[in-house]
Amino acid sequence: MNKKKLIVVGSTGVIGKKVVDLLGEDYQIIEVNRSSGDYKLDMKDAISVDEMFKRIGKFEALISTSGFGRWASMDEMSIQDYHYGLQSKLMGQVNLVLIGRKYAHSGTTFVLTSGLLAQHPMPGSTSLSMINAGIEAFVRAAALEMGDKRVNVVSPSFAKETMEMMGIDSSTGIPAIEFAKLYKQAIEDGKSGIVYSKIKE
Ligand SMILES: NC(=O)c1ccc[n+]([C@@H]2O[C@H](COP(=O)([O-])OP(=O)(O)OC[C@H]3O[C@@H](n4cnc5c(N)ncnc54)[C@H](OP(=O)(O)O)[C@@H]3O)[C@@H](O)[C@H]2O)c1
Repeated sequence: MNKKKLIVVGSTGVIGKKVVDLLGEDYQIIEVNRSSGDYKLDMKDAISVDEMFKRIGKFEALISTSGFGRWASMDEMSIQDYHYGLQSKLMGQVNLVLIGRKYAHSGTTFVLTSGLLAQHPMPGSTSLSMINAGIEAFVRAAALEMGDKRVNVVSPSFAKETMEMMGIDSSTGIPAIEFAKLYKQAIEDGKSGIVYSKIKE
């Protein structure tokens, strides 16, 4: 039996790797990153995104665990830093939906990534809080126009592995595999316009 095709943009990242581990058995995964994978692109570039969908053809789901926004105080952030984050994490992911929906078939699901900073800001998070809230607002509104396709978003909190990489106390972190389970739920439970999140109990 042919497996369903799942595009994972950001497949080599802390969270993306766990998504591939969890879903690799059931789906034919197409890995997409800037520097490695089955297909290389920068999702900021709409023309490359369009080219990728043309090349890949029919797909059943797309998960994006990618994009960058700088974490720094307003004093340290330049206007360019804000623009870069908006182009990368916000518009990069929006590109995937806006362009991908033209190539998607009935039932295709898109799952983007925001982050807990949308609702729980911290000093240094002005850029990421703005970007994450923007992604969630886009998803809720876009779901109303997706017809027989779906779009959802996973909002991770701090992953344990990321805290370890940063050398900070990871006792409050959540293993990234727990976020991967939310992406699975977001493509398989038939809903649209939902923000999936998990916080430490
Ligand atoms: N980890 C956490 O604790 C945490 C918490 C809350 C939210 N998040 C969000 O979750 C997402 C994934 O986080 P992560 O920690 O797993 O990230 P990560 O380890 O930095 O990995 C990012 C992944 O995305 C790819 N990528 C980055 N920019 C791209 C672009 N413009 N076009 C195509 N691919 C791109 C990277 O590969 P290349 O470098 O090869 O392109 C890499 O595979 C991010 O949006 C992050 O803000 C993470």
